[in-house]
Amino acid sequence: MNAVTFLSPVTEEIKLVEERMRAQADDSHPDLRAALEHLLAAGGKRVRPTLSLLVGNMLDAPLEKLVTLGAAVELLHTATLVHDDLIDGALLRRGMSTLNARWSPPATVLTGDFLFARAAKLAAETDHLPLMKLFSETLAIIVNGELTQMFTSRGLINRENYYKRIYAKTASLFEMTSRAAAMVSPANEATLEAMRVFGYEIGMAFQIVDDILDFTGDQNAVGKPLGSDLLNGLVTLPAIYYAEANPNDADVQSLPNGGWTNNEHMTHLVENIRASDASKQAMREAERHVERALAALAAMPACAEHDALENLARYIVDRKV
Ligand code: IPE
Ligand code: IPE
Ligand code: MG
Ligand code: MG
Repeated sequence: MNAVTFLSPVTEEIKLVEERMRAQADDSHPDLRAALEHLLAAGGKRVRPTLSLLVGNMLDAPLEKLVTLGAAVELLHTATLVHDDLIDGALLRRGMSTLNARWSPPATVLTGDFLFARAAKLAAETDHLPLMKLFSETLAIIVNGELTQMFTSRGLINRENYYKRIYAKTASLFEMTSRAAAMVSPANEATLEAMRVFGYEIGMAFQIVDDILDFTGDQNAVGKPLGSDLLNGLVTLPAIYYAEANPNDADVQSLPNGGWTNNEHMTHLVENIRASDASKQAMREAERHVERALAALAAMPACAEHDALENLARYIVDRKV
């Protein structure tokens, strides 16, 4: 399975999304245009606009609205990454240097703000008030989740807290994208709900796999710094499984008391987690989310997009990037 399988029905349409995104800096300061160029040139998997196009096309939504929605969602995603990398001090993203690696923090913050503003404008250009509300509500969920993570979740080993966090930072945007693509189509309420569930489930799986890749991924393939979640105090699902199986591990016990600030101990813990089957257990959980996504998809009309959405859901757990 590779990215091409789910992209094929929408390769041309993704180009329209890219053009729409690129056009957002047309009348702005040359440095802002250059920053947007740099961000767009770095690529990215474009999973979210692909989701919007596939769901919307399957349900006969107008293409123009799906392209607008896809550009809005991808710009919102890009803006959160610009700020996230600044907050995390990450220097690599999509295999290229981040804006904060090249620019001052103020310029990076302002570029992120600009992208948020343009994302909101694009959302408004769908001319769909409930969609705009859902869009801004989702941004609030993401930001609230990031703040919660920063202030109350560092070093915390707690499943419920983990699921809430990954919903807020990642699954909420997938959920919104999938539901919004159905909202601009003639679909009924049951279909809207099925597509919300589809987006939610693949979004949860997506972040669990992102968290697994932080332990097991190939940094060159992933294109961003790995092995860093624990060092940032982020206790993710593989670490939670490990902690549950090894409650007396000294590094585990140190976590809630600020032990994550000790590089040596965390490097040791990361090695132990890698050698354990915690990542496999986490992967099984991601697969169960994908199963539930496929169940929600099953009632949808049979068509090329339906098949591509199945492939997209499966790709999320098979991916190496
Ligand atoms: C990265 O998202 C941030 C997460 C929510 C895990 P992606 O893995 O979709 O990043 P790009 O857009 O492909 O770079
Ligand atoms: C960031 O999540 C995603 C946001 C919504 C801000 P991560 O911190 O896990 O993303 P990466 O690993 O840096 O891509
Ligand atoms: Mg990050
Ligand atoms: Mg991550």
